[in-house]
Amino acid sequence: CGITACIGADNSVDSLVDGLQRLEYRGYDSAGIAVKNGSGISLTKRVGEVSELVAAVEQNPIAGDYGIGHTRWATHGGVTDGNAHPHTDESGRIAVVHNGIISNFQSLRSDLEARGHVFSSETDTEVVPHLIEENLRDGATPEEAFRAAVGSLSGSYAIAAIIGDEEAIFATRSGSPLVLGVGDGEYYLASDVPAFIQHTARVVYLHDGDFVVTRSDGYDITDSAGRAVDRPVEHVEWDPETATKGGYEHYMYKEIHEQPGALRRTTQSRLNTHAGGVELEEFPPESFADVKQVHLLAMGTSHHAGMYAASLLNSRGIPAYAFMAGEYSVIKPPVTPDTLVVAVSQSGETADTLDAVRRARAAGARTLAVTNVVGSSITRECDDELLIRAGPEIGVAATKTFSSQVTALTLLTERLVEDVTGAKSPEARDLMEALSRLPGDVQEVLDTSMAREIAIEYEGSDAYFFIGRGVAHPVALEGALKFKEISYEHAEGFAASELKHGPLALVTPLSPVFAIFTGHEDEATLSNVKEVQARGAPVIAITSDRSGEVTEFADHVLRIPDTHPDIAGVLANVQLQLVAYHAADLLERPIDKPRNLAKCVTVE
Ligand code: G6P
Repeated sequence: CGITACIGADNSVDSLVDGLQRLEYRGYDSAGIAVKNGSGISLTKRVGEVSELVAAVEQNPIAGDYGIGHTRWATHGGVTDGNAHPHTDESGRIAVVHNGIISNFQSLRSDLEARGHVFSSETDTEVVPHLIEENLRDGATPEEAFRAAVGSLSGSYAIAAIIGDEEAIFATRSGSPLVLGVGDGEYYLASDVPAFIQHTARVVYLHDGDFVVTRSDGYDITDSAGRAVDRPVEHVEWDPETATKGGYEHYMYKEIHEQPGALRRTTQSRLNTHAGGVELEEFPPESFADVKQVHLLAMGTSHHAGMYAASLLNSRGIPAYAFMAGEYSVIKPPVTPDTLVVAVSQSGETADTLDAVRRARAAGARTLAVTNVVGSSITRECDDELLIRAGPEIGVAATKTFSSQVTALTLLTERLVEDVTGAKSPEARDLMEALSRLPGDVQEVLDTSMAREIAIEYEGSDAYFFIGRGVAHPVALEGALKFKEISYEHAEGFAASELKHGPLALVTPLSPVFAIFTGHEDEATLSNVKEVQARGAPVIAITSDRSGEVTEFADHVLRIPDTHPDIAGVLANVQLQLVAYHAADLLERPIDKPRNLAKCVTVE
């Protein structure tokens, strides 16, 4: 879900709705705003995308001096107008938006109902306005009532509220993201910076437990005990244009094309091509000398980046395991004090990943966050952080952040090898050179890709399979994930070796197989290609084809520039991103907002 709030802006309704449109990637089941004006709170909420809300506001205009907004991804309660946020109390004088889950809402709701409160939704959130009302009735000021209400909540939340006639927005966070935008006599609160970046680039990253009261002449941040806390105002380097579609039809397509720039930033001042080394100034010399094994924890696309890194680390003699974070949470973390736990998360807010890393830490592991979002929750949960610097990603399907994650993790791998063994890996020099060429190589893929032709050729197939070995295995999984999530077609990725142990039974002339070649173990993958071809399946090879042999056997080739095998997977993945994009585009799918999915999943 996504939250917005603003006070002091010229037109609060426009600012809120505009912010919601920019946050729509976080959820788009329903949306709503509440604004305060002379006669009270005006509320509009609608099922569907933010455009439905815009239409409703155009039909029945509302105005207000300040207000709150929300775009929802349903967790408690179905997708109905009634369950959409903001939620109010019976008097209609309090309005609340919330992101996260209030785990004790059932018992709070029963208590409140016993006291005569009447609920109008099935959501966990609705307890909050009723709790505030209850406290106001007992004589509390709006701020005291807000604090007391929040004090009785368990779970994870970011909350913003408007209460009675007090010209202020009250907000807090615990386990869900919330940032404050500081403008000139105008202030914004949101789940993420793109919501207000067109108004201000000055941002305060709130911490868990912070309370903020924002008025048109300033703001106060306090801790849960009411003591003032000082949070720096940071300047965000994003060009507002990077948070818009900038002429592209979809954010996803734009973000695919931003990869050369993203990779330049990921590697900037971190590559020493001359000495063949890595310079990660985040970590003092020999920081990782004691590391004996590495666990990579992540979900979704980030998990595939984690698997990629595990493959690189293992190939260099450092034992590494990639875990799906949600599964790590159900085991006793198998860590020792010399285990480095690397949490990989684009948003830095994924609940499964946060939970897993907390458990690893409690079990005594050292933790390192690899993330795209400065000040995100994961950076506070972990001992250290490595930023991937990909810039904001809006499309639900992660693209440029995968490339930047793999690249950052490749740098980390080389640094670990240096610290653990006391010497650079034999690969280091060639790899650093290849990394310095990577942005240009990605550009070449973007300029020459035949992905749309392939998507046209195979439209209407029964299923789409993706295979690869070593680092190409996670790329196969990622290729299939991208394809299924935006096209809604059946797609699966396999380790090439796995094919003959079951999946081969699914292979028919109507199931094209995308085979990824990195220049490493190509012979073995080629045998798998021959196996599927014998069953009549068309084969699309993603390869730089050094030997010419692959081209001979494949029905089609998506060519990638010749590079170091360890990062060839990044280039292959760009081809597969384009295939998925074009396949979904031909089917006219809502590419940036695939059904049932959200970019940032802050519930377990
Ligand atoms: C959601 C998104 C995926 C993403 C995953 C992990 O499922 O739809 O695109 O890969 O969360 O997100 P994170 O922010 O932790 O990388």
